[in-house]
Amino acid sequence: MVNAAEEIKSRCNIVDVVGRYVRLKRSGSNYMGLCPFHSEKTPSFSVSEKGQFFHCFGCGESGDVISFIEKIENVDFMTALRKLADMYGINLDDYGFTNESRKNRLYGMNRDAAVFFLHSLADRPNPGRDYIMGRGLSLKTIGRFGIGFAPDSWNALLNYMKSKGYEEKDLAEGGLVSYSKGRYYDKFRNRVIFPIINTRGKVIGFGGRIIGQGEPKYLNSPESAVFSKRNNLFGLNLTRDSIKERDCAIIVEGYMDMVSLFQNGVTNTAATLGTALTPDQCAMLSRYTKNIVLSYDADSAGRKAALRGIEVIRQAGLSVRVLHVPDGKDPDEFVKKHGREAFEELVENALPYVDYKLAHERSMVDLDTQNGKLGYIKGAARILSSISPAEAEIYIKKVTDETGMQEGALRAEIRRASDAGKQREPVFREPADREQDELSPVSEEDLRLQKTMIGILAKAPSTLPEVSKYESIFTDPACFRIYNTIKELIKDNNALDADTAADSMDAEDARVFLEITGSTALDCEPDLLLRDCIRGIREKELRRKNEFLHKELMLMSENDDDRITEIMGQMKKIDAEIQHLRNSAGE
Ligand code: CTP
Ligand code: MN
Repeated sequence: MVNAAEEIKSRCNIVDVVGRYVRLKRSGSNYMGLCPFHSEKTPSFSVSEKGQFFHCFGCGESGDVISFIEKIENVDFMTALRKLADMYGINLDDYGFTNESRKNRLYGMNRDAAVFFLHSLADRPNPGRDYIMGRGLSLKTIGRFGIGFAPDSWNALLNYMKSKGYEEKDLAEGGLVSYSKGRYYDKFRNRVIFPIINTRGKVIGFGGRIIGQGEPKYLNSPESAVFSKRNNLFGLNLTRDSIKERDCAIIVEGYMDMVSLFQNGVTNTAATLGTALTPDQCAMLSRYTKNIVLSYDADSAGRKAALRGIEVIRQAGLSVRVLHVPDGKDPDEFVKKHGREAFEELVENALPYVDYKLAHERSMVDLDTQNGKLGYIKGAARILSSISPAEAEIYIKKVTDETGMQEGALRAEIRRASDAGKQREPVFREPADREQDELSPVSEEDLRLQKTMIGILAKAPSTLPEVSKYESIFTDPACFRIYNTIKELIKDNNALDADTAADSMDAEDARVFLEITGSTALDCEPDLLLRDCIRGIREKELRRKNEFLHKELMLMSENDDDRITEIMGQMKKIDAEIQHLRNSAGE
């Protein structure tokens, strides 16, 4: 860490840094300005470029560039370092900031904190213990999940951890304590603590529930080198075997829902960590099952989360159904009252996602009015245009039955929605047989293309905006996972370090990834390579689109004259585009 601080000091010029906050004027060999730390009319704040320090003759403040940032931004040393590193584009990872030993230190620290919380829950009398047992959790469950209690104190954890030899700034880095006005204090106070444990058994963060009413209801650890909310699911460490065995994962929103289902014997479940379901979480789940059941709250936030979750899960190539808990209850309340079998019946009856989306459209209109019917049909057409024709057939029947609409009119509406969809999307998605395709192995050629794109991205992270336009090419599960991991890292850091990236993947993905980045095929200019790839992707899309139109053409009857002319026109245009692409190759 000393190295990182020295490195930063040697790369920053204090005059530039201070100059961002204070208007400075040269005065001899120094710079002068109005002191930002006390109020004054005539400048007595001086900055020495040669000595790389500042000093105020008025109030006496002085220090180097790091302590300047600490003071002016009111942050601790580590945060100041990070801010400076960001300003100068210095990658702190090169200085051991996310290396294994640092991660291991955080894991150890979290483990020690979890033990402290656990012991605090054992003390009696104890409001945390009373609260959580009052919610029906047994001691066995509490022990299973390592649920603990953060006492109502500003420094109980802080003192305990200091006595174990931890330093305040490290505790702050792990999110266990906060910092304000020169003092560190416990982040979690008077809360029931749910340790978040990853599938390798490491404590990576905490969720803390307030005792009774109050805001915020839940407080979560901040993201850290070991805690990424989008990359983990609460409870999966205990439930993955059951998920695999039952070949189904029930995803809930709340810690309490997850724990309560588990206690009641519904053990194939996991909870998101206060955020929407992400592609990374789907990739994780896909190692254990391809069948996801969403069990979110029935309020409007929960419905929105379900609709978004559906898309993310489908993108990941998994199948998804949506479970409805009756009477506005959440899974915890329901399973407590009605038990395991009743909940499993709800799982059994969970709606296939198309039915769920249709039901959602229907709930927004009044089918008894002409306008409502029309609105519903448009919505339904949009949904049906995005699924395989075979599947759509089943639903076309349902929708016409519901609305009394003519089948032909609905089909026309679906075609229209499908065309509109195609125009919106940069990459053409074949509406047909997507579901079946997912199971067929990815061709050698496609796999090579996907790996090349990952290689380009790893070598030239600035190509992300361009590459991400074509992200639907990542059909190979490993490539999909790898792509998502490095995408998020690039977004967070504006850069990518291959070893750090590999660290956040599982062993097999990391091997594939390092093989890609080490491959000599990537030795040429990434931009040129990317252009080639994109040309290839476009040509393939166009050919597929043509094939699809061709299929559609063959299904037409004589009455469809207009549509036939339209299709022929489109096919001709596509042929011309393909020709054009080929001519432009090698330019
Ligand atoms: N959550 C959060 N911050 C909040 C509220 C909620 O991070 N202020 C997240 C937590 O992960 C929580 C989940 O959203 O577990 C669900 O919240 P909510 O539905 O409000 O709570 P319940 O799970 O019903 O919790 P409880 O039963 O304890 O009231
Ligand atoms: Mn609840």
